[in-house]
Amino acid sequence: MRITVEEACYRLKRGEPVALPTETVYGLAAPLSHEGAIATIFALKKRPSDNPLIIHVEGWDDAVTYCKAPLSESASRLTDAFWPGPLTLVLPIQESLVPALVRGGLATAAFRMPSHPLTLAVIREVGPLVMPSANLSGRPSSTTPSHVEEDFGASFPVVDGGECLAGVESTVVACQGARWEILRLGALDSAKLSTILDYAPVYCEVMTAPICPGRHHRHYAPRARLLMEVPPPPGGTVVGFRDRRYPEGCKLFSMGDSGDPDAVAARLYSILRALDTAGVETAWVDMNFPRRGLWLTIAERLERAAAQN
Ligand code: TXA
Ligand code: MG
Repeated sequence: MRITVEEACYRLKRGEPVALPTETVYGLAAPLSHEGAIATIFALKKRPSDNPLIIHVEGWDDAVTYCKAPLSESASRLTDAFWPGPLTLVLPIQESLVPALVRGGLATAAFRMPSHPLTLAVIREVGPLVMPSANLSGRPSSTTPSHVEEDFGASFPVVDGGECLAGVESTVVACQGARWEILRLGALDSAKLSTILDYAPVYCEVMTAPICPGRHHRHYAPRARLLMEVPPPPGGTVVGFRDRRYPEGCKLFSMGDSGDPDAVAARLYSILRALDTAGVETAWVDMNFPRRGLWLTIAERLERAAAQN
């Protein structure tokens, strides 16, 4: 059910979660100040309670009020450069100011300022919002209002902000010792971060709970089984690129052009969801693309989607 920004603010203030658009994916929002609404979000998503949420703020000054000094000097340089935008910073916080449920019991919390004007308007009116991606836990994230309705029902309230521009989630970083590391690959790649820092932050693949709690949970998976090691047989269903040729009779679910990672990322979750809508049981994924920049994020999402089923 599509609702206005005013209706969204009204519901949120009463503690009722709503779905909101961001430039990355749709989020399922609850006010940081409303613990009941936050608990409802975990229940709606069937999300494990040890997987913490991102606090969406209207700027760096807003985030700092929850944090514990001293903060790394480079934190504000990163937010100056990339906020509003798809970068999430994990920062040490004053534990009394952030409910334990939001931070999975950790002494840190994740912060991001999204850039979608409708959602910024809601944050300005309601205050900071916690917002996990608006999908059932384990499913591909939602990049359109229809995806939200697929997972939560046609009567679930969603502010229609169009199709998400980036289509994959924000990049999550944390400062470990003196250096920033990537906890979750996302829409902002390491090379862009290196223009502000004097090094390219690395993705710490082996990081597990409690530092990167979301990592061990099921993610991004359609119901269809995804195969990536073998070539597709004639007549098979392929998740691939429109500028490539596949065996005779293959049905192509096109992620877009193999030279355009931005467009591929934007379509990724729609294509995974489209497999389910079409009742596909098995699909072959064309993983023949570079492993750098945004392609790394695309590869990681596809590999995790395939590993789960
Ligand atoms: O683009 C996005 O980030 C979207 C939109 C709606 O803003 N949100 C999103 O939220 O993807 P969610 O809940 O699906 O993912 C949050 C990620 C998880 O991987 C979680 O483990 C990590 O952030 N995270 C949150 N708090 C953390 C913390 N204190 N330490 C380490 N990782 C944390
Ligand atoms: Mg998610």
